[in-house]
Amino acid sequence: MKGNLNRISSKNNQAEFSCLMALLFVLWLFPEYIHAQKKSVSPISTLSSKKISPNLFGLFFEDINYAADGGLYAELIQNRSFEYSPTDRKSWHSLTSWEYITPGYSYGSINVESSSPIHPNNPHYVVLHAEHIGQEGVGILNKGYENMIIKSGEQYLFSMLARQLSATPVNIMIRLQDNQGMILDRKNILVDIKEWKKYTLSLTPSRICDSTALVILAVSEGTLAMDVISLFPEKTFRNHPNGLRADLAQVIADMKPSFMRFPGGCLVHGDGVGNMYRWKTTIGPIEQRIEQKNIWGYHQTVGLGYYEYFQFCEDIGARPVPVLPAAVSCQNSGGTWRIGGTGQQAIPMADMDEYIQEVLDLIEWANGPETSAWGSMRAQAGHPAPFNLQFIGIGNEDKMSPEFESRFKMIFENIKTKHPEVTIIGTVGPDSGGNDFEKGWQIATKLQVPMIDEHYYKQPDWFMANLSRYDSYDRKKSSVYLGEYASWGNKLKNALAEAAYMTGIERNGDIVSMASYAPMLAKKGFTQWKTDMIFFDNANICLTPNYYVQKLFSTNYGDILLQNVILKKSTDTALAYSAVQETKSGDIILKFVNAGHQPGIFRMNLSAFKTLQSTAEVTVLKGDENDENTFEKPGTVTPITESMEIKKIFEYPSPGISLTVFRIKTKP
Ligand code: AHR
Repeated sequence: MKGNLNRISSKNNQAEFSCLMALLFVLWLFPEYIHAQKKSVSPISTLSSKKISPNLFGLFFEDINYAADGGLYAELIQNRSFEYSPTDRKSWHSLTSWEYITPGYSYGSINVESSSPIHPNNPHYVVLHAEHIGQEGVGILNKGYENMIIKSGEQYLFSMLARQLSATPVNIMIRLQDNQGMILDRKNILVDIKEWKKYTLSLTPSRICDSTALVILAVSEGTLAMDVISLFPEKTFRNHPNGLRADLAQVIADMKPSFMRFPGGCLVHGDGVGNMYRWKTTIGPIEQRIEQKNIWGYHQTVGLGYYEYFQFCEDIGARPVPVLPAAVSCQNSGGTWRIGGTGQQAIPMADMDEYIQEVLDLIEWANGPETSAWGSMRAQAGHPAPFNLQFIGIGNEDKMSPEFESRFKMIFENIKTKHPEVTIIGTVGPDSGGNDFEKGWQIATKLQVPMIDEHYYKQPDWFMANLSRYDSYDRKKSSVYLGEYASWGNKLKNALAEAAYMTGIERNGDIVSMASYAPMLAKKGFTQWKTDMIFFDNANICLTPNYYVQKLFSTNYGDILLQNVILKKSTDTALAYSAVQETKSGDIILKFVNAGHQPGIFRMNLSAFKTLQSTAEVTVLKGDENDENTFEKPGTVTPITESMEIKKIFEYPSPGISLTVFRIKTKP
């Protein structure tokens, strides 16, 4: 009996000892567990946590790489207003992308004229003279931006401004045809007014066609003037007239960005003072907008103008972040990219009052009541309610010259005084360091600019080596909008370097207020900037690994940083992580980046969360470091989501070359 008791007691001692050792081991691994156990109050207060920016991950949109015209903007006709010119590109002119056609032994002529335009902002128009209509008529043809694609059974909205110039009205046939001349649909209109008038009709092609042309034929003899010849799919994103390409807009909307910056980039400050993006010239009826050269070597119709940008932001739930020139042009003006040219040009001081008023008017246009001068223009355009503009960028990576500094200061002080409710974002040059960066920060600190816009494009190694860049930023100075960044490339290794860096951004979400990858869109075969987030042609979209990383961060975003729930087991520099909580849903979101080839173990302690759900949603983006998506193989790198049973304390062996996102519910 005694022996038995001894045995039991010695068994008990052994068990107690093992339990104690296990407990000590757990406490050694997770010191915060002691803290969590001691205080059984609400999860967030028991943990080390801090509030971070609610707007951290958003978008950068620039009309670069044919992102707007020929891209997101759904207009199918290229050079619809006959405003292309050699200033855009040496070989371009008013009739670029138009063909004069005389089928069936017809003859006549076309001219580009500018004596009585529809509006002085839109000076050129075409005059078609049908002298002999032959069997089919005399006319013009446009194939759009390369291959114009139309879908069977869908409606296409044609419109044009026209004016009868001959004594008698002119009968016009509008038709869609394929590259063999087979007609897909057609309708006639009679141009019978001597003043400019808008003519509209809709066409419904009988079949899908990926090489469509819009043909306008005078089928009675006479002369007419035509301008702003437009063809839109009826189905645009959210069915807005003058709207956006639905499929492209949707993949952007799917990212649930917290903000969208527009319209650039270098496009903002432009190639010389005369080429700056001036918001007022991009609103109102499309025939009254001022088209101009695009700094990236093509043309801007500004059909996608400020109204459409704000509307798109509203549609996708993103805060609008317009960036306006700081009254100086791009420092590379007049030259090729970063080489030579006239350099930065400044708006003369004598014109600064007017320019500052233009900036202030934007705030009234976006936020003012319907009764205000500019608010009423927004209302007339179809949006009586304010757009709720909260941020405005002044300047884009400008050279920190005395001309910049004096003008920026004037604009900044005026907005600050008249609109203290709007957060002004300043600029600190085109790189992560250097003279403009240092000087930009000095100016921002002196003026107490609330936020500054940093830009840098680097190799993946740079990002991996700089994960703690913002740890040491002075919290008393301006906060940061990382407005443009990307690692040079669209391979998985590039995307993972960005993901690792973004965990550092989340960790510093108290000082980094916003961040956006750049550029966003690029048309296949028309890209000026090689590394982009979403590639497209007229039919297809190719989403890069970089897109998936951005989307995983923006759709799995929290406003509270949890500082001590993840422990990285080793000091492996290829591993990065973050833990956040979304106040709205209560969900905990853990992100693990493993940019190395070996599995990396992460340990979690979520025991402070009393109501943690045991099934987590786990999304993994992984592959070979050189994997990339192509139009031929668009699904090479895509995230996969599965459910996983978890405990409050658990380990996750992250696969080599991967990003993993855990979403864990704390509410049933
Ligand atoms: O994102 C492409 C270009 O890079 C932007 O236009 C410019 O701001 C930066 O240099």
